[in-house]
Amino acid sequence: MKTFRWIIFAFLAIGVGLYPIIYLLINARFGLLSSKPDELLQNQLWNIAFYQHIFLGGVALLSGWSQFNERFRNRNLAIHRALGKIYVIVCLLSGSAGLYLAFYATGGWVAGLGFGGLAVSWLVTTSMAYYSIRNKEIVKHQQWMIRSYALTFAAVTLRVYLPLSQIAQIDFIDAYRVIAWVCWVPNLLVAEWMIKRLNRTVTLKAS
Ligand code: HEM
Repeated sequence: MKTFRWIIFAFLAIGVGLYPIIYLLINARFGLLSSKPDELLQNQLWNIAFYQHIFLGGVALLSGWSQFNERFRNRNLAIHRALGKIYVIVCLLSGSAGLYLAFYATGGWVAGLGFGGLAVSWLVTTSMAYYSIRNKEIVKHQQWMIRSYALTFAAVTLRVYLPLSQIAQIDFIDAYRVIAWVCWVPNLLVAEWMIKRLNRTVTLKAS
């Protein structure tokens, strides 16, 4: 069961991590771009932020998932450090671009506030993970990384919920406004639950 969960987790992280490549392959208004007005699509700053966000966000998903495997991490500490640095840099760059994009989100201020909240939480949790390891606080580093990656995983949950909402024939804009929140708030709750469970295991092992 544990292996099965791990395979699903890796499959979704890799699949959605590679998804932004489609924007390079399809030379047309693909996906979200088809819902944007011409004026915005001609805005150079928005375009830079959009491509910075989607490609570096993809790298964040691809670089993070394998580091939650304790055995892999402990055996390849140099790789862990290198991937960790890449992860932090791409999260900060993709997150700040995501925060800017949130002001132009489809679905207006409700969706914008949802994505904005996600962006700020992503920037804060990733920075905290970085500062705690700089201070050699390993347990705190692990906890903040769980929170940070749970937020990175919002890219996956959003792309699971959105097609489901369309199958359920919910109006796209209504669904998008709700999903801008639902794609990350429950992920954070799951992260807190995982952290509690991890703390309990450590206490049991120590006693
Ligand atoms: C976790 C923090 C994240 C925030 C705050 C965020 C925010 C946003 C925002 C505001 C948009 C534009 C939405 C609109 O204009 O309606 C967007 C689109 C997009 N984001 Fe993110 N995002 C995050 C993570 C990621 C990650 C990790 C990826 C990696 C694949 C990603 C890939 C994309 C893609 C591909 C789009 C274009 C829409 C689509 O084709 O589905 N995002 N994001």
